Amino acid sequence: MTHRTHRIIGCGPENPLRVVVVGAGSMGRQWLTTVTASPETELVGIVDLDLAAARRAAADLGRPGLPVGSDAVALAAGNGAQAVVNVTVPEAHHPVTTAALFAGLPVLGEKPIADTLARALSLAAAAEVSGELFMVSQSRRWNPQLFALRGMLRELGAIGTLTTEFFKAPRFGGFREEMAFPLLVDMAIHAFDAARFLLGADPVAAYCQAYNPSWSWYEGDAAASAVFEMAGRAHYAYNGSWCSPGAETSWNGTWRASGEKGSALWDGDNEPVLVADVQPAELPRSPYSDIAGALQVFVESLRTGGVPMGEVHENAMSLAMVEAAVLSARTGRRVLVDDVLDQAYAAALRDENRPDVRAALAGWPSVRDALVP
Ligand SMILES: NC(=O)c1ccc[n+]([C@@H]2O[C@H](COP(=O)([O-])OP(=O)(O)OC[C@H]3O[C@@H](n4cnc5c(N)ncnc54)[C@H](O)[C@@H]3O)[C@@H](O)[C@H]2O)c1
Repeated sequence: MTHRTHRIIGCGPENPLRVVVVGAGSMGRQWLTTVTASPETELVGIVDLDLAAARRAAADLGRPGLPVGSDAVALAAGNGAQAVVNVTVPEAHHPVTTAALFAGLPVLGEKPIADTLARALSLAAAAEVSGELFMVSQSRRWNPQLFALRGMLRELGAIGTLTTEFFKAPRFGGFREEMAFPLLVDMAIHAFDAARFLLGADPVAAYCQAYNPSWSWYEGDAAASAVFEMAGRAHYAYNGSWCSPGAETSWNGTWRASGEKGSALWDGDNEPVLVADVQPAELPRSPYSDIAGALQVFVESLRTGGVPMGEVHENAMSLAMVEAAVLSARTGRRVLVDDVLDQAYAAALRDENRPDVRAALAGWPSVRDALVP
C-alpha cells in the first residue's frame, strides 16, 4: 500500500499561499477570480503559452502589472510562488504538473488528472516521489446538496440502482465539437466521480454505447448510455446527451437512488428528496462548494497535512470509469476496470521518462492497491 503524506506549508489568512495560475483560457479566468477573491491565497502570476492571453487576463483582472510568463516553474522561481493551479488543456496537465511537483510546488489541477489514465498514474507516482500534494479540483464533488444526497443513501440500506440523466444542448465551438467522445471524455467524469462518492464504491465493470443523434452539431458521439457494476453490487446507469434541446437537466444531472428501504431523488439544483419510511439522521453538508471550495480544501490540506478528496490517487478511478466506458463503446464489449487499469499501468511503465517515477510505479503492488488506501 502506498503511503500518502505531503509537505506541509504554514499558510493561512495571515500568510496567504502565493499562487501562480497556469492556463488563461475560459476556465482559467474563473480560477483567476477565485484565487484573487480568497483571503487564503494571493495571486502572484499568470502563465500561458499564449503570452498575449496571459496579459489580457491580467489586465481584465485590473492588475496589468502582474508577472506573466510561459513557464510556471521559471515564473515561480522568480517571484517566490508556493503553489500552482493548473488550468491548461488536458494534454498539458501531465507536463505542467510534473514540472511543478519536482520544483517543489504543490498543484491544484483541473479535471481530468491527465489526458490518459496512464499519464494519471505517472502523476500519482510523481506526487509520491516529490512529496508534494497534487489535488484534482473535481468541482461538482463539493456540492452541499450532493453531500445531503449521500447521507440519504446511507439511510436506504443496500443500494440496487443509481441513475443519472444528463441532457443539455450547449454550443461550445472549439475542441469539444471535434473530439471522438465529447460527452464521455469532457463531461461525464463529473457524474462518474459523484457516483463513486455517493456509493462509497469503486467500479468493477462497464458496458457503454455511444452514438451521435442525426441532428448533432458535434463530430464525435455526443450521446451515451453507460452501465457500471460497482463494488458492493450496486449498478450505476448514466444516460446523457450534449445535443438535446428542450427540458434540459441541471449541469449536475438528475439523480435517482433505489435502495432496499426506499428511494432518494435529486434534480441537481434543489435539495434532494428522501422517499422512504425511515427517519434520517441529520444530513451531512459540505461546508464548501464549487472551485472556491476545492481551493479552500487545498489550502487547508497544505496547512494540516490532511489528504483531501480529489487527491490524485483517490481521483484516478473516476478517470478509469471514463476510459472503461470509451473502450466499451469502441469495442461493443463489457470491459473489466481491472483490465483498463492493467493496460494503463503497462503504458505508464513503458512511457515514463523519469527513472525515479518509473521506480515508484514499479514498486506498486497493484494499481488498485496503490490507488485505494
Ligand atoms: N470543472 C469544470 O466545470 C470545468 C469547466 C470547463 C473546463 N474545465 C477544465 O479546465 C481545463 C481548461 O479548460 P478551458 O475550457 O479553460 O480550455 P481553454 O482552451 O479555454 O484554455 C486553456 C489554456 O491553456 C493554455 N495552455 C495550453 N497548454 C499550455 C501549457 N503547456 N502551458 C501553459 N498554458 C497552456 C492555452 O493556451 C489556453 O489559453 C480543462 O482541463 C477542462 O477540462 C473544467
